[in-house]
Amino acid sequence: MKVAIEITLNGSPRSFEVDVRQSLLEVLREQAGMLSIKQGCAVGECGACTVLVDEEPIDSCIYLAVWAHGRVVRTVEGECREGRLSPVQQSFVDEGAVQCGICTPGFIMAATSLTEKHRGESLDRSAIRRGLAGNLCRCTGYSTVVTAVEKCMDDTADDD
Ligand code: FES
Ligand code: FES
Repeated sequence: MKVAIEITLNGSPRSFEVDVRQSLLEVLREQAGMLSIKQGCAVGECGACTVLVDEEPIDSCIYLAVWAHGRVVRTVEGECREGRLSPVQQSFVDEGAVQCGICTPGFIMAATSLTEKHRGESLDRSAIRRGLAGNLCRCTGYSTVVTAVEKCMDDTADDD
C-alpha cells in the first residue's frame, strides 16, 4: 500500500509517495537522491545509515519512511551551506577523521547531534565515545573521530 508523506528535508519541504513497508533509508536514497546515506548492516547495528529526525540520530535502515511524515530530516547533504563545511565536517577534515564513505556520513550526523546537544560544554573523550557508540568502523579506528569531535566542541565553546 502506498501513502503520501511530507517531510522537511535539509530545510526544504518535500513530498514522497512511499510503500508503507519502505525504510526511510530507501526513500531518501532512491527518491531524494541522498546518496550519502549508506546501508551497512541493515539491522540497526552499524550506524552507517544515521540521519537526524527532529534532531535525534536514528538508524534510517530500520525506521519506516511513514514515521518521518511531518518531521524534520537532516542528512550530510544539507550540512554544507553556501560552500562552507559545517563545524563538524571541517573538524573531521582538519583532524584527518574522514574515513571511508560507508561510515563517515553516519559519524558526521551522529557527531552533529552530539555537538549540538552539548553546545558550550566540554565532553571528555569517554563521553564522546559513548555518544558515538552507535556508529561502528570495521577497519581503522575511532581515535581521530573522537579527536575531531573534541576539537569541534572546544571551538564551539570558545565561540560562546
Ligand atoms: Fe542501518 Fe547499519 S545500515 S544501522
Ligand atoms: Fe569506514 Fe572503517 S567502516 S573506515
